[in-house]
Amino acid sequence: MAMIIDGKQIASEIREEIKSEAAALKERYGAVPGLAVVLVGDDPASAVYVRNKGRACEEVGFASFQHTLPAGTPMRELVSLVDELNARSDVDGILVQLPLPGHMDESAIIDRIDPGKDVDAFHPANVGKILIGDEKGFLPCTPQGCKVLINRAVPDLKGRHLVVVGRSNIVGKPMAAMMLQKKKDADCVVTVCHTAAPDISYYTRQADILVVAAGRPNTITGPMVKEGVVVIDVGMNRIAHPDDPSKTKLVGDVKFDEVEKLASAITPVPGGVGPMTIAMLLSNTLKAFRMHREGS
Ligand code: GUN
Repeated sequence: MAMIIDGKQIASEIREEIKSEAAALKERYGAVPGLAVVLVGDDPASAVYVRNKGRACEEVGFASFQHTLPAGTPMRELVSLVDELNARSDVDGILVQLPLPGHMDESAIIDRIDPGKDVDAFHPANVGKILIGDEKGFLPCTPQGCKVLINRAVPDLKGRHLVVVGRSNIVGKPMAAMMLQKKKDADCVVTVCHTAAPDISYYTRQADILVVAAGRPNTITGPMVKEGVVVIDVGMNRIAHPDDPSKTKLVGDVKFDEVEKLASAITPVPGGVGPMTIAMLLSNTLKAFRMHREGS
């Protein structure tokens, strides 16, 4: 039976640490880290994410600035808002919730955000820093959260085979780049597999650590993993509840019941990677504040 990696508990410990650091910074500077979150349109899931991010900020004593624009907002108005937030000294981090409405050019908006305030780490300047292992940049929240969980579960990663399923810009690609750095808390041999592979199980069976960000339930089943593997399930899929079709249930990308029997450690869904993502957003906002105040 696998050890269940309690992301909820670990995230709560990290949030407590951030809260006391924010209090110390307030003493020293008379100011607290500030995060601006921008939501365009009324996608209900995005609205929930944005609300949770604002709430998490308040809980650790950060300032939170929420900007909600109608779905039909012209692109230039969003650009102006980003420019305004870039210039504000009380805003350390800027997050524009994705996806944006179809008429907007997402990459143009991401490019417009000051890389020093880009707490999502989606700006090409930060993506480049991830690839070369420059720690002055930000790390994207979800893969950073996965990395913290992996580092706790596996103290020595040197030469271990980490397999990532999924090649998204938000999770798969940065995850791979982060874990292959020649650093004490990384140094893995990394394989990325994805939908073009004729048989992903060829790769997943070789994994010492398996990070699954495929966006599809039951992507990984028992026969697809090696005994003793550490499994990080990034999936968040809302499906009809198997016992009551009038309800829904949140499941990951991994067939938990099967894989748990073989793994040495595994994240649950919910309560695994999900809570870590917001903790890392707060951590990045704290880092941004320090960079702005202390230049480090
Ligand atoms: N939409 C889904 N995940 C994310 C995220 O991590 N950041 C932003 N900005 N939008 C998202």
